[in-house]
Amino acid sequence: MTSLTYLGHAAFLIEHEGQTIAVDPFLTGNPLAARQASEIAPSIILLTHAHNDHVGDTVEIAKRTGAAVIATFELGEWIAGQGVEGAIPANHGGTVAFAGGTVKFVPAWHTSSYNYNGQTVAPGVPAGLIVRVGGNTIYFAGDTCLFGDMRLIGEEGVDLAVLPIGDHFTMGLGDAVRAAEFLNVPAVVPCHYNTFPAIKQDPHAFGRLLEERTSARAIILEPGSRHELQATGNDTR
Ligand code: NI
Ligand code: MN
Repeated sequence: MTSLTYLGHAAFLIEHEGQTIAVDPFLTGNPLAARQASEIAPSIILLTHAHNDHVGDTVEIAKRTGAAVIATFELGEWIAGQGVEGAIPANHGGTVAFAGGTVKFVPAWHTSSYNYNGQTVAPGVPAGLIVRVGGNTIYFAGDTCLFGDMRLIGEEGVDLAVLPIGDHFTMGLGDAVRAAEFLNVPAVVPCHYNTFPAIKQDPHAFGRLLEERTSARAIILEPGSRHELQATGNDTR
């Protein structure tokens, strides 16, 4: 069985056969965080980009658990420079295998930098992630606007898309619905909303619009809640 747990903002856990994969584990300082950083013990951490609301507690968690951290190149190098032994720098188009699955880096239209002790570090580029695990293909768009090449990403056979809907820094509701159309996905989990005033949104309004305009189902997760994934066999390509 494979499950997806929403930890608030853009932080997720994928659990599969006793293994935990964390995506963008921003917990400390996240007003929506459903767990403290000390309460999670992933063996893999996947990062979409360097912004603080995505890298979050990565370095602390990776040092404590020995997790591999898979990220785009400059961010991966910076994480390694922080003393994380399992940092794996990768880049767009590349697929990295880990125990139990793979992640492929795809483009995202956004920026990427990390504010560390008052300095901007770890430049590089943002990414989306196609994660294949447990008979499922999950697309984490990361922070992005809508872009036409989401049609190409849809050709990867995505079972579930995790899309930002907060607007202001990313797509808003309407463009996230168009993204679901481009991706041709059966189900969408919205994220990156209601954490801060600038990204206040009603996820149920998104869900209604999505189900009105597309054949996709909205899966709206409260922080801390878990969604069980039904294996489709779509985890090889
Ligand atoms: Ni960002
Ligand atoms: Mn963000």
